[in-house]
Amino acid sequence: MYDFKIQAADTATMYRDLASALEGLVAGERDAIANMANASALIWETLPDINWVGFYRNVDGELVLGPFQGRPACIRMTFDQGVCGAAAKSRQVQRVDDVDAFPGHIACDSASASEIVIPLIRDGNLIGVLDIDSPKKARFTAEDEAGVVKLGEILARIL
Ligand code: SME
Repeated sequence: MYDFKIQAADTATMYRDLASALEGLVAGERDAIANMANASALIWETLPDINWVGFYRNVDGELVLGPFQGRPACIRMTFDQGVCGAAAKSRQVQRVDDVDAFPGHIACDSASASEIVIPLIRDGNLIGVLDIDSPKKARFTAEDEAGVVKLGEILARIL
């Protein structure tokens, strides 16, 4: 049994604990589906105020749903669709305070109000994106972005 209960006093410590739990969880495992599944479960258990976390994989230039936690989601997106597509196309983190104000946002769950999407890049190749949604507007701060980018770096190495 894995029992990662992260209860840190502040956000920076929480992300540090989360990163080291993630390192431990994926250490020695090369199967990408297993690692994405456990990573999404760990983030889901740890981050407050989120309603979806998961992966879209770059499959021949299209984003295809991978392991996630939350409600069933849209299965495929082009790089021209949604916040995930914008992250994939630009290879830049997309931190959206109000998804309703983002042109082309795809609402898989009408509860989603803000989101952050991290492109996962290894050796110059886009592996996919990590998408985290929240029912609260402006849920993700610059501090969250720094923490989630670190998680993305760990994941890009092993997926
Ligand atoms: N929010 C995404 C769509 C995927 S779901 O939220 C899981 C987007 O517009 O990229």
